[in-house]
Order: sequence, then structure tokens, then C-alpha cells
Amino acid sequence: EQELTGLVVWVTGASSGIGEELAYQLSKLGASLVLSARRKHELERVKRQCLENGNINEKDILILPLDLTDRSGHEAATKAVLQEFGKIDILINNGGRSHCASIVNTSMDVFKELMEINYLGTVSLTKCVLPHMIQRKQGKIVTVISLLGIISGCFSSGYCASKHALRGFVNSLDIEIGEYPDIIISNIYPGPIHSNILKNALTEEVTKTFGQDIAIHRMATSHCVQLILIAMANNLKEVWISEKVFLLLAYLWQYMPSVALSMSRVLDKLLRK
Ligand SMILES: NC(=O)c1ccc[n+]([C@@H]2O[C@H](COP(=O)([O-])OP(=O)(O)OC[C@H]3O[C@@H](n4cnc5c(N)ncnc54)[C@H](OP(=O)(O)O)[C@@H]3O)[C@@H](O)[C@H]2O)c1
Repeated sequence: EQELTGLVVWVTGASSGIGEELAYQLSKLGASLVLSARRKHELERVKRQCLENGNINEKDILILPLDLTDRSGHEAATKAVLQEFGKIDILINNGGRSHCASIVNTSMDVFKELMEINYLGTVSLTKCVLPHMIQRKQGKIVTVISLLGIISGCFSSGYCASKHALRGFVNSLDIEIGEYPDIIISNIYPGPIHSNILKNALTEEVTKTFGQDIAIHRMATSHCVQLILIAMANNLKEVWISEKVFLLLAYLWQYMPSVALSMSRVLDKLLRK
């Protein structure tokens, strides 16, 4: 991770969970930070904690409130970062939202909102930052996708679909950017990790959130983030981070999709009992 010291890193979704922990660990490494999410007061809290952790000063952190669904603001936000730091070494596309409801009961507005946040918002910000990286012929775009961008699960169809779409986009980007070997596209696929993702998940309507957690075994946020940073520093392109049982499912979906589908149906039946 020491390779990341002194770099300018823009983290979306920095007000909570994985993004918040990324801010803490990157600040300890002495990276300059741009912290984005919608809730400014939460970003201020994260900034205070980063400063308390030491290794960086006030001038090394920019709070940049940003809504992934408001694409009209992304160009101006990118300009603000460049004005402040003169460069963007790493963009971490981490902001996102999950889904927890059946397909039958979910309104079309929820499917649309999840595509706006997880897919189009990320595509838009990436497109704003890309010309700068192409001009410098260097940079890293790290996208936190999900194992649900590889496997599919019940009651999270809108999330799965948006993350599968994101996987398609970033892999196409990797191919297109091939003539610039020092622009690294790094894709992170976490399994269940401690965060507020379930609490904030959309349910049947865009106005309704799941509001609670469910008891499943999750990886500690700090461990997941440390692995993300090691992957980033070492230019790893495809990174699966999870406890073993979910990794096994991901391998099945990757190599034996019909077996994975049958197994998932059995699991679904068991879970419904
Ligand atoms: N935790 C897991 O188990 C897990 C597993 C696989 C992948 N992931 C992915 O990891 C990423 C981070 O999620 P997390 O687990 O840390 O969840 P989290 O604690 O709920 O954090 C989500 C972050 O995204 C931001 N966000 C949500 N909607 C936004 C919007 N419209 N515009 C801008 N920012 C928005 C939130 O900030 P504001 O509300 O302040 O905007 C928050 O900072 C997500 O992409 C998620 O899909 C998580």
C-alpha cells in the first residue's frame, strides 16, 4: 500500500462503509484525498477523523459533495478537483446502493434509480476523469462492483442488474484503453462486507429503504479495504474479495452457470422456509 503515498485519490461513497474506511486507510498512507457523497456533514465527520489519524493536513483533503444521479454536476466536480490538486491519480468509483425486494413487488422507478446510481452515475464520472488520464497517459480507475456483478441472487435483482452492467462497461473500457498501458482499470468484486449497504437498500419504492441489517457472516470493512489498497498498489485488474463460501458460488457462476443456477434455487427454497 505504501506505493499510494502522495497520490491524489478521489473516493466516491466516502461518507459511509467501505468508502469511509478507504478514506481512513488512505489518509494514514499520506494520500491526498477528495471525498464525495451526497451528505456533506458525514463527509466533514470523515475528514475530521482522517486529520486526527495524522499523516495528512487540512490542505490534503477536499470535501466535494456529489450526487451520482445528478450527472449534470460531474464535469464541474472534476474541474474542481483538478483546480485544487492539479491532477487525479486514482478515481475510486465506490458510491452505490443496493436493493432488497422481489421483482414482482418492485416498481420500475426503483430499477431506474439503481441504474442511475450504480451504473450511469459511475459511467458518467469515469467519462469526466478519463480525458485527463489520457492526456497524462497515466492513472487508475478502480471500481467497486460486487460479487453480485458475477453471481445473481434473489430479492436483489435491480442491484445485480446494475452491477452486471457495470462489469460489462469497465471490461470494455479496459480493452479500449489498451493503447495506454499506464492507465490501469482495476475492478473489485466484494462479497458481504460490514457497512450500511443493507440498511440503505431500496425496497419496493424509491421512497422506502430496508432500514435494518440481517445476520449473515460478513468480512470486516478494514480487512476488505486493506485488500483493495494492496490490489490497487499492485495494479490487479480483477479482484474477488470474500469469505470462501461466496467465492465458491462466484466460481460456480463463472464456470458452471447452470449448476450455479440450480444450487441457487435450492438455497432460495431453504432461505424461504
Ligand atoms: N457492503 C457490502 O457487502 C458490499 C458488497 C459488494 C459491493 N459493495 C459495494 O461497495 C460500495 C460501497 O458500499 P458500502 O457497502 O460501503 O455501503 P454504504 O455504507 O451504504 O455506503 C454507500 C455509499 O454510497 C453513497 N451513495 C449512495 N447513493 C449515492 C448517490 N446517489 N450519489 C452519491 N453517493 C451515493 C453513500 O453516501 P450518501 O448517502 O451520503 O450519498 C455512501 O457513502 C457500493 O458500490 C456497493 O455496491 C458493497
